[in-house]
Amino acid sequence: MNLSIVGSGYVGTTVAACFADLGHNVTNVDIDESIVARINDGGAPIHEPGLDDLVAEYGGDRLRATTDYDTIRETDVTFLALPTPSRDDGSIDLGAMEAGARSLGATLAEKDGDHVVVVKSTVVPGTTEETLAPILAEESGKALGEDLHVAMNPEFLREGSAVEDFLHPDKVVFGTDSETATERLHAVFEPLLDHSDADVVETGTREAEMIKYANNAFLATKVSLVNELGNVCKEYDVDAYEVADAIGLDDRIGEQFLRSGVGWGGSCFPKDVAALIAAARAVEYEPSLLEAAVEVNDKQPKRLLDLLDSHVDVAGKQVAVLGLSFKPGTDDVRNSRAIPVIEGLLDRNAEVVAYDPVAAENMREHFPDIEYVNSAAATLEDAHGAVVVTDWDEFAALDQEFDAMADAVVVDGRRIIERRDGITYEGLTW
Ligand code: UDX
Repeated sequence: MNLSIVGSGYVGTTVAACFADLGHNVTNVDIDESIVARINDGGAPIHEPGLDDLVAEYGGDRLRATTDYDTIRETDVTFLALPTPSRDDGSIDLGAMEAGARSLGATLAEKDGDHVVVVKSTVVPGTTEETLAPILAEESGKALGEDLHVAMNPEFLREGSAVEDFLHPDKVVFGTDSETATERLHAVFEPLLDHSDADVVETGTREAEMIKYANNAFLATKVSLVNELGNVCKEYDVDAYEVADAIGLDDRIGEQFLRSGVGWGGSCFPKDVAALIAAARAVEYEPSLLEAAVEVNDKQPKRLLDLLDSHVDVAGKQVAVLGLSFKPGTDDVRNSRAIPVIEGLLDRNAEVVAYDPVAAENMREHFPDIEYVNSAAATLEDAHGAVVVTDWDEFAALDQEFDAMADAVVVDGRRIIERRDGITYEGLTW
């Protein structure tokens, strides 16, 4: 099929390259000429395992990028993968989505025959139906349900495994009231579903929109719950990880997302939970459990620093920060727990020396004045304390490097360091 994807950010590029891999002809539309040129030259505009190979293989061929919306008329289905950033109150800003829908609608006004528009971006319930569909209909002059069909198809891609997650999903959600859109989505995903045991969920647009938020809110709240349980465990000298392993054996709980520690970050959980809270408040519902999930998440970096305080006064002293990205396997520092941890250390007048295998440059934008070094060993040397914020595998191998610390106090926010003789080790929840 001929597909177009509007937006070549994280989701748009991944989806476009994966659709090309499934055998479709894909046009990726973006306003940024440098990104467009890059994709056509076979280079991925974002770093994601497996994506470089796909863009190198199909870029400029089955996968074409352009700034020209008119090429969309040669396609059968358009996916809208534009950003929905947070406003100050947590609600999502639909500016880019509305502008994209307007341009797309204007382009479709010149197209003979029908067209299916699929919202891929994360939007609150009702957005597709009440905001985007009317814009598309008005601009295109097409009639909804006749020659214009609208659907919502959320993504569940994790950073660091987005290509793998796309090609091997556990579910694919088609949210639409239109039979034409459902049929076309089945045709788009057929090459994937033919080789997969993924469940296909056919539902309404509003349900599809909510499924995405519910998915992320559930997972974030699950982590906050294990963090809360972990905090209680710590006070009672109970190993929260042994408790988590045991409760995870109950199928109703499940073994994943039970790692307690310094909390969740990234581009999705914080933004999506905030948007859901804002959406609930907008209809005068106070989502107290979601608010508590955020509160617990905000508390974990403070608890980590309190533990450090209980062993060493860090004022004027060098403190090592191990890990800066919001999780291992990525250089993304958006909402990383390292940010409040470093802020807390700076409030205490500590001299922060940080190390991350890939994320230091990105963190430099937040904290240009702290010291960044090239190895975990270098950050530990002469430090009066170390805090572990990201569970990079390489930290598990650290051993005699701790001997070079001035005060070998290690507060581990991710249970990645081995407890050993010669260091004062504090696990955040164990
Ligand atoms: C998440 C969702 O998993 C994905 O489906 C959605 O589309 C986008 O948001 P991502 O942000 O890439 O993906 O990260 P994920 O691997 O889910 O981890 C999120 C955060 O939770 C990280 O900061 C991670 O360190 C933390 N986490 C996760 C825990 O603290 N404990 C756990 O047990 C699991």
